[in-house]
Amino acid sequence: MKNIRNFVIISHIDHGKSTLADRFLELTNTIPKEKMRPQFLDMMDLEREKGITIKMQPVRMNYCLKPDTYQLNLIDTPGHIDFSYEVSRALAAVEGAVLLVDATKGIQAQTIYNLELAQKQKLKIIAAVNKIDLPQAKIEQSQKELAQLLDIPKEEIFLISGKYGTNIEQLLKAVIEKIPPPKGNLKKPLRALIFDSKYDSFKGILAFVRVFDGEVKKGDNFYLVASKMTGEVKEVGIFKPELTSKESLRAGEMGFIATGIKEPGKVRVGDTITKLKVKSEKLKVTEVEALPGYKEPQSMVFASFYPAVSDDFELLKRALAQLKLNDAALTFEQERKEVLGRGFRCGFLGTLHTEIVLERLRREFGLNLIISRPQVAFKIIDTKNQENLIYSTSDWPDSSQIKETQEPWVKLEIITPPDFLGSVLELLKQSRGRPLETKYLLSDRLLLIYEIPLREIIVEFYDKLKGTSQGFASMNYEILGYRKADLVKLEILIAGEKREAFSRIVPRKQAFEQGKKIVHKLKEILPPQLFSVPLQAAFGGKIIARETLKTRRKDVIAPLYGGDYSRKRKLLEKQKKGKKKLKEKGKVKIPPSIFLEMFKG
Ligand code: GTP
Repeated sequence: MKNIRNFVIISHIDHGKSTLADRFLELTNTIPKEKMRPQFLDMMDLEREKGITIKMQPVRMNYCLKPDTYQLNLIDTPGHIDFSYEVSRALAAVEGAVLLVDATKGIQAQTIYNLELAQKQKLKIIAAVNKIDLPQAKIEQSQKELAQLLDIPKEEIFLISGKYGTNIEQLLKAVIEKIPPPKGNLKKPLRALIFDSKYDSFKGILAFVRVFDGEVKKGDNFYLVASKMTGEVKEVGIFKPELTSKESLRAGEMGFIATGIKEPGKVRVGDTITKLKVKSEKLKVTEVEALPGYKEPQSMVFASFYPAVSDDFELLKRALAQLKLNDAALTFEQERKEVLGRGFRCGFLGTLHTEIVLERLRREFGLNLIISRPQVAFKIIDTKNQENLIYSTSDWPDSSQIKETQEPWVKLEIITPPDFLGSVLELLKQSRGRPLETKYLLSDRLLLIYEIPLREIIVEFYDKLKGTSQGFASMNYEILGYRKADLVKLEILIAGEKREAFSRIVPRKQAFEQGKKIVHKLKEILPPQLFSVPLQAAFGGKIIARETLKTRRKDVIAPLYGGDYSRKRKLLEKQKKGKKKLKEKGKVKIPPSIFLEMFKG
C-alpha cells in the first residue's frame, strides 16, 4: 500500500484539469502516443462537443520514481457548479488533490468552493498555477494569491503549462512525495466505498469503488451494507481508463466490481460493500462498520419529462433509472398529466444539468421528450393553512385557493475583478439581488455576497455574468430558505389552447413584461403553420400579450406551368378548404427542440 497514491485534480471550470491529466497519462505511458487526443479523460461525446467535463473519470497509472514503482489512481473532476456532486464524491475516495488555477483568470468561485470541500476531507493539497505559457498570464500574482489562500510559502506553488508539459514531471513527483499513501488494513474484512456506478447489460451494475480494508475477488459473496443486498462478484477490475479485468482489488486501490445486479435502485453510491464470511452465512453479516457515505444532493430545479410518443414511457422509466447510476445527482418521480399522460418530475442541480440529462436520454436511449421549463419548487399556503410544494406550473392551484405564495432564496457569492464591478452590480440589480456584504478577497479580487431569489439565477444568469465580465466573474450559491413572494401563474395559449409546458410562475409585477417576452420568442422560433396562429399570454383570466404566427402558404400551384388559370384556382380553393379543416382541428404541432429553446430564455 505504501506505493499507492490516490488523488484528484480540482479547479474552477476550464482551468485545465483534463489537459493536465493528459500530460500525466503521457508521462506514465498509460496511453500510447498514437492513441492520445486532447482531454482524453472526457470520454463522452457530449463532453468533447461541449468542451466541458460532466463526469468524474478515474484512471490508474504506473510511474517509476526510483527505486520504486508507484500505482497512481487519479480522478479527473468536472468544474461546473452543476456537477459539484461529482467532485464531492471523488474527494471521499482519495488522500490528496492537485488544485489548479488558470494564470489568466486567477482564483474564482469554484476554486474556493472545491478547495473548501477538499480541506473538509482533510486532503493534502498541492497547488499549481496553470497556463503559464499564455502571454496574458499573471503568473506572479496568481502564485501570490494562491499562497495567501492556502497560507503556504509561494515557493510551494508549482508553475505549470498543461498544454506544453512545462514542470509537469516535477508536479507528478510531488504527488508521490507529498500525498500520503492510503491507510487501511488488508487483513480486515472488506470495506469498499461506492463512489460511482454504471449500468452494463451483461455484467449487471458496475460499482466503482475505493477499497479501504480487505480484498475482493471474482466469486466472492458481497453484501451492500445500506441496501442489504447480497450477490456474487462477477468480475473485478481497474480503470485504464477503459475497464480492465484484474485478479483482485486490495486495500488502498480503486477499481470496479461487477455485481450482476440488474435493478438500478439496488446499488447506490455512498453505500459500503463488504463480504459475507461464508456463502451459507446469508444475512448474518460481518460486523463491518459502514463508511461515512455521501450527503444526498439537494435538487435546485425541477422539470417534467414526457415521452413524445406515449409508448416510450417504459423506456423512459428504464432510461432514468440507468442514468441515475451514472448521475447520482438526478432525482425523479413518476407523475401524470391530463394532456401529456405519464411522465416524470425530475430534479436537477441546475439548468446545465437538466440540458445534459435531456441530451443523454436522447443520445443514449433514443428518446424524444417533451419537457417543461425547469423551475424552482415554489411553496403555497392554501386557504386551509396547508403548505404545498409546487414543482410544476400545472400543479399551481386556482388563485381562490391560495393564501400565500413563497419561493426559495439563495446566498449568492460572486468573485470579480474590480474592473467589472459596475456591470456585475447592474446585473444583480436587474435580478433583484439584495447586497449582504462586499469585501476584498485578495489584492484585486472582490467578493460580493448577495441574497437573491433562486428563480432569478437558474436560467441565463450564469451566462450573463460571464458575458458582462469577459469571463472573469464567477459564482457559487447555497439555499437560504423560503420567503414570501407575490407570485402568479402566467398561462400561454397557442391557437387558443393552453400549453402547460410554456406556462410560468412569475412575480405579479413582472407578469406583463414576461408575457410579452414569451409570446414574442414563440413567434420567432415556432415553425410557420398552414394557417395563422394567435400566440397569447394570460393571467388571472385576462389576455395580456398577443402575437400572430404568420401563415406559410404551401406553393400548391408551383408544379403548374403556363397559364391554366381555372386549374390554379381549383388548387387554391382546395388548399383553402384544407386549411379550414386544419384550423378546426386546431392542433399546432410543436417540435421537441422548441421546448428546449424556450426554457433557455
Ligand atoms: P472542465 O472540466 O470543464 O472544468 O475543464 P478543465 O478544467 O478540464 O479544462 P480543460 O483541460 O478542458 O481546458 C480548458 C481549455 O484550456 C482548453 O481549451 C485547453 O486547451 C486550455 N488549456 C489547458 N491547459 C492549458 C495550458 O497550460 N496552456 C494553454 N495555453 N491552454 C491550456
